[in-house]
Amino acid sequence: MNPTLRATLGKVPGVRRAAAYLRSQLVPPSERAHTVVINHGTGQVTPPFPLKPGVDRDRFAAEVAERKWFHTFDFGDGVIGHGPDPSHHKTQYMGFPDRFDGLSVLDVGAYDGHYSFEAARRGATDVLATDHWTWTWPGETARSNFEFVRDHLDVTVRDQFIRVEDISPEAIGGQFDVVLFLGVLYHAPDPLGYLQRVRSVTRKYVLIETVVDLLDVPRPAMAYYPGAYLNRDASNHFGPNMPGLLGLLEDAGFSKVDDLGVWRQHEIELTRGVPLPTGAPTSGRAVVRAWV
Ligand SMILES: C[S@@+](CC[C@H](N)C(=O)[O-])C[C@H]1O[C@@H](n2cnc3c(N)ncnc32)[C@H](O)[C@@H]1O
Repeated sequence: MNPTLRATLGKVPGVRRAAAYLRSQLVPPSERAHTVVINHGTGQVTPPFPLKPGVDRDRFAAEVAERKWFHTFDFGDGVIGHGPDPSHHKTQYMGFPDRFDGLSVLDVGAYDGHYSFEAARRGATDVLATDHWTWTWPGETARSNFEFVRDHLDVTVRDQFIRVEDISPEAIGGQFDVVLFLGVLYHAPDPLGYLQRVRSVTRKYVLIETVVDLLDVPRPAMAYYPGAYLNRDASNHFGPNMPGLLGLLEDAGFSKVDDLGVWRQHEIELTRGVPLPTGAPTSGRAVVRAWV
């Protein structure tokens, strides 16, 4: 550009900002380099769940000890339902709100229900827990654990058997202010379709926790896990990288995404038995909050 014209334009208010904006649009948002944010948590571990008044603690403790759990429930006084999911610690890394007062909450893929009960005791006006596979699979204890916890806690949580593929406002009675979509996205054979279903029932935002992979690839991408490649579990299908996850959410109709960071960065390497990376993580689990 002619230097005199450049100098003259430079004095016009807003021209520099407009030029920077135009330049930024030459690279599609999903192809801009993504910095991996590591979430170190807030240091707050969730306090124990309060039991209904009148519960016989000894009988309750005996049954908690006999059950096979997925989530870890701390019921206080050393009574803990121990599962492989470090649920009572996980809330500190997930940007899980301190309070849900005045908000309705949908928990998709609730399993034993830890996060549904957590939302209810943090003041949600209505909580609907949904699931299908682990609530119907022969030999799975998830459904009975959910009912056992609900019978003994002083909180109200509704439930519905429904597959993610069937979720719509009509099928579950409308939209929910907050949707919890924790640990489900990588089980989707059709990640965009699942997120579109989730978007259709979200009024404010969805909190997503998911496996992420290929974090060293700057372009939007998803790792595919054929058969039981990931964690010896054939129900795992795709792990997006961060530009891929943001792009999926944008295409599903969300307007803004907060990247709350990658945590448990070495989980996948550990479970596959390959050496831990020495540099930045290339896989792990990420949490994002996507706004309608
Ligand atoms: C890894 S667990 C996550 C449980 C819980 N949300 C958490 O974060 O700890 C995945 C859950 O999603 C459910 N799920 C996976 N695919 C599903 C589908 N297509 N429809 C309904 N539930 C599904 C499973 O049954 C299981 O309970």
